[in-house]
Amino acid sequence: MKSIFLQAASLVSITAAQASSLVTPCEGYSTPDVVCIDRYGSVMPGNFIRRVRNVMGDADTYGSTSVPDDPSFSDVANATFVVWDRQAAPGILGKEPQLEFMFEIPMQPHEAPVYVPTTNELYFTRLQKDYLPQLVVNLAAEPPTLSEKTANPPIYAPSGSRYRNGSIIFCSGGLNDTVDGKHYRPGIIKLDPRSGKSETLLNNYYGYFFNMCDDLDIDSDGNIWFTDPQYSWPDQTSIVAPQLGTASYKFNPETGVVQIVEDTLVQPNGINFSPDEKTLYLSDTGSAIAIIDENVQPVIPLFYNSTGKRTLYAFDVTPDKRTLLNKRPIYHALEYAVDGLKVAENGMVITATGRGVDVLDKYGVPLLRVQTNFTAMNMQWVGPNYDELWIVGIGGVARLKWGLTGPRVH
Ligand SMILES: *[C@@H]1O[C@H](CO)[C@@H](O)[C@H](O)[C@H]1NC(C)=O
Ligand SMILES: *[C@@H]1O[C@H](CO)[C@@H](O)[C@H](O)[C@H]1NC(C)=O
Ligand SMILES: *[C@@H]1O[C@H](CO)[C@@H](O)[C@H](O)[C@H]1NC(C)=O
Ligand SMILES: *[C@@H]1O[C@H](CO)[C@@H](O)[C@H](O)[C@H]1NC(C)=O
Ligand SMILES: *[C@@H]1O[C@H](CO)[C@@H](O)[C@H](O)[C@H]1NC(C)=O
Repeated sequence: MKSIFLQAASLVSITAAQASSLVTPCEGYSTPDVVCIDRYGSVMPGNFIRRVRNVMGDADTYGSTSVPDDPSFSDVANATFVVWDRQAAPGILGKEPQLEFMFEIPMQPHEAPVYVPTTNELYFTRLQKDYLPQLVVNLAAEPPTLSEKTANPPIYAPSGSRYRNGSIIFCSGGLNDTVDGKHYRPGIIKLDPRSGKSETLLNNYYGYFFNMCDDLDIDSDGNIWFTDPQYSWPDQTSIVAPQLGTASYKFNPETGVVQIVEDTLVQPNGINFSPDEKTLYLSDTGSAIAIIDENVQPVIPLFYNSTGKRTLYAFDVTPDKRTLLNKRPIYHALEYAVDGLKVAENGMVITATGRGVDVLDKYGVPLLRVQTNFTAMNMQWVGPNYDELWIVGIGGVARLKWGLTGPRVH
């Protein structure tokens, strides 16, 4: 009698689970490291709730959603790879995707990861008051090692970067005057990674200070497109309150002309062209609010509000590369805000959103998510084949081995 009852009970629970299971194993991949979500979890059963946590750098996560009537969803919190598009997954993940935590670093924003193929190094930066070195990973060492290098003259608080023609081009946000006669001004700075010599390419807008210069991309004609939000003042890497509204600009290093190209985003942030340069992706982190009071440097520098802008936009770039047209929102961050972004060789868009990075198709449809145990801010393709993605952020650096590759840069 007892055993019949048990059998009946377990049959019932299996049927209920099958009827409502949001999370299932993904064929060909190990559970619970890789989980698949049916139909984007578009119908969650029962009294689900995702509690908003408006904490800068530690907002609520997708996996923190409580779904009491479908216990399978709790697997999301601990999964490394969360798959929505089963068909696209093998092409993105490869056979054995692997996310490795590489370095524990201070709980400060880390940004501007950039790969230097000639020296096989990954540079990245720390945005912290009075911190002047850059961080350098020697990828030739096994395991890779981390050290600090200070440019000559130093580059203060750069938060975006690209590699071109032997040099790193940084978007630098620090604004200060030091006792040793150095003047740090937000703008664009070129670094020769071999000699450590730096050279300023742009440091003002007709005499005004830029607010910071946050991130940049470089088109095939050599124009540097960059975003200028207002985070340096609230995070205390600038001693001068903003003089300009937030905007994005195009800078021609040959002529020196710098021209506004976009001024509707609340806090323009990540920026990257599609491989064919017909599309420019720009993210808006307006939800990370820069408190602006020109008389009072804030003590609590920034705060986060989940109802603010957390959106990735796409723009058409006219063939003469002069104008951005057809602004359209294509992705609303599922965690935190869309921060740094990089476009893969195949056109997929990788964006840092909270505790992880999302892989979107070129129209912004999420395909899968890679989850980190720290707030991811930006990422960079590294290695001779650009087939590893290194992720940097608040408190950590991680290495992702998977199936996607980045564009080759020279
Ligand atoms: C997830 O991991 C945490 C600690 O790492 C553990 O306490 C928790 O039970 C795990 N949750 C599931 C659903 O496995
Ligand atoms: C910035 O300026 C302040 C004083 O105004 C000084 O104490 C600080 O060391 C400076 N930092 C840098 C990096 O120049
Ligand atoms: C690359 O750098 C070299 C010298 O370092 C320079 O002669 C050349 O013009 C540069 N090419 C481009 C495309 O900037
Ligand atoms: C978040 O922003 C909304 C408006 O978008 C505002 O009503 C709300 O008070 C803000 N929340 C906090 C905690 O500041
Ligand atoms: C992330 O995980 C690594 C190792 O798995 C650990 O060393 C590190 O402290 C963790 N970081 C956070 C912020 O939990």
